[in-house]
Amino acid sequence: MKKKRGNKGLKFPIAKTEKERVPSGIKGFDDLIEGGFKKNSVNLISGGPGCGKTLFAIAFLYYGITKHDENGLYITFEEKKEKLYDDVKGFNWDLTKLEKEKKFVFLEYTPEQVKKLLVEGGGTIESIVERFNIQRLVIDSITSFGLLYQDQLTKKESALALFELIEKWNCTALLTSQELETVSEDYIASAVGFETDSIILLYHLKGKRGKRVRAVEILKMRGTNHAEDMYAFEINEKGLEVKKYKVLI
Ligand SMILES: Nc1ncnc2c1ncn2[C@@H]1O[C@H](COP(=O)(O)OP(=O)(O)O)[C@@H](O)[C@H]1O
Ligand SMILES: [Mg+2]
Repeated sequence: MKKKRGNKGLKFPIAKTEKERVPSGIKGFDDLIEGGFKKNSVNLISGGPGCGKTLFAIAFLYYGITKHDENGLYITFEEKKEKLYDDVKGFNWDLTKLEKEKKFVFLEYTPEQVKKLLVEGGGTIESIVERFNIQRLVIDSITSFGLLYQDQLTKKESALALFELIEKWNCTALLTSQELETVSEDYIASAVGFETDSIILLYHLKGKRGKRVRAVEILKMRGTNHAEDMYAFEINEKGLEVKKYKVLI
């Protein structure tokens, strides 16, 4: 094996496991989590506006289809289809083509519709999952959905009901959650209360000279020997990439 230089003591990359994993396909990211997400897990991607949550989630679906032959469903409360498709054209991601091939489904939904879905036990989404053989699912973002519920208990109960549905559909899911500038300890406690299998934090931090840097951190991932540090994360014309160096704050 080739000896790596200047990488002493760096907990990266994490060795791949024999367990069945679902790679995001995002360059550098899967090395942080034993090769990918756990199959049929529910994962939370959290961060402030412009941190890259939507692009991260779309990348997961796009690579799922193009690299791993897994069809994807994108449910959004916020994004407009034409605008999003146009935004990712620069990365050479042709969502219109994938949609025509029945591999990608874009579903604009209101949080109320999702709430109704919980009562009905699946409804429209369930039939889409079956009809299109969906294996990867994104809800962008869960924040708007959470706002429908006033108290923590019903919020938690409805989140659990949603997770149970996702589990039933046999999908690996990414839920995005919109946070303000920094992630507070309170938030982390309530997110953990959400009982997702993992929490991934995306940052867009202001450095000493005023320039912002992007970073990614795995806060938790069940059953996974994941990286503990914040790693540099880039969005450029080629797409998304996690770099092999840490961001120290
Ligand atoms: N081609 C690109 N080159 C560099 N940065 C980009 C490019 N496309 C998008 N971005 C960055 O990604 C951000 C949008 O990310 P997005 O996933 O929509 O964030 P979030 O969903 O967390 O609000 C933009 O504000 C911009 O900074
Ligand atoms: Mg977004």
